[in-house]
Amino acid sequence: MTIKFGVIGGGVMGEALLSRLINLGIYQGSQVLVSDPLPSRRSFLAEKYGVGVTGENREVATAAEVLFLAIKPQVFAEVAIELSDVSASSLVISILAGVPLSKLEKAFPQHPVIRAMPNTPATVGAGMSAIASGKLVKPEHLEQAKRIFQAVGEVVEVPETMLDAVTGLSGSGPGYVAILIEALSDGGVAAGLPRAIAFQLALQTVFGTAQLLKESGMHPADLKDRVTSPGGTTIAGIAELEKAGFRSAIIEAVKAAYRRSKELGS
Ligand SMILES: NC(=O)c1ccc[n+]([C@@H]2O[C@H](COP(=O)([O-])OP(=O)(O)OC[C@H]3O[C@@H](n4cnc5c(N)ncnc54)[C@H](OP(=O)(O)O)[C@@H]3O)[C@@H](O)[C@H]2O)c1
Repeated sequence: MTIKFGVIGGGVMGEALLSRLINLGIYQGSQVLVSDPLPSRRSFLAEKYGVGVTGENREVATAAEVLFLAIKPQVFAEVAIELSDVSASSLVISILAGVPLSKLEKAFPQHPVIRAMPNTPATVGAGMSAIASGKLVKPEHLEQAKRIFQAVGEVVEVPETMLDAVTGLSGSGPGYVAILIEALSDGGVAAGLPRAIAFQLALQTVFGTAQLLKESGMHPADLKDRVTSPGGTTIAGIAELEKAGFRSAIIEAVKAAYRRSKELGS
């Protein structure tokens, strides 16, 4: 059986991708081969998803049509050396934060390479990924990569120079939104709600607002105008947010994460 999808590093993101690709029928378990150093992890993935597993990265790199790198960035150098003389023309897709296309292409000179930046909601199929193409990438490779990331959410194509900004927004964004949900819950508790109910209200409010904006295509400013009645409750709340510099804090958070991403990648 041809190995269509090879994963190096069967951790959180590797599992998220392969599980959705198999569940959606994009690949069969028998077309997927995963390498991971931990035997217990390998048997878990083999049992749960019916994928082939190995402790040898070279076996995956040699066999796979698409080679998906899902190791931590710290072990990239070691894995690159290990795979340096593997001759295959597979499409290489890397999700390693901070490892630029120039380094990836140096490690895989014969291969078309795509660098991607997914985010944590990819683990539940609601991710936002951005992908950037290397020099040897052809339209069919790009389509293939898009299909793969669409299995775990949405995907956009950007030039590599924008990936630090992507990291500052969608990469780090789940952290900001988690704090917003926690703060909304705390506000509910401060106003007299039991914690569990406050959390449920906060979570569903953020989820529902995002869904409403997405499905209706409405601009956020229009939604805000619609829910603020003269002298009402929402405008009273918004006035406090503005006083505290809420918008500015979020803008500065994205900029700080963007700068940090640049620093870490250089
Ligand atoms: N999680 C996210 O939301 C997210 C978002 C964007 C990008 N990323 C990127 O995704 C990559 C993976 O992140 P993750 O959260 O999935 O990490 P993870 O859960 O730690 O997965 C990495 C896996 O690689 C295995 N591994 C370690 N050394 C290896 C080697 N030499 N050869 C093959 N496999 C090896 C690890 O095994 P051991 O545990 O036994 O070491 C682990 O199972 C990172 O580069 C990160 O920058 C993650």
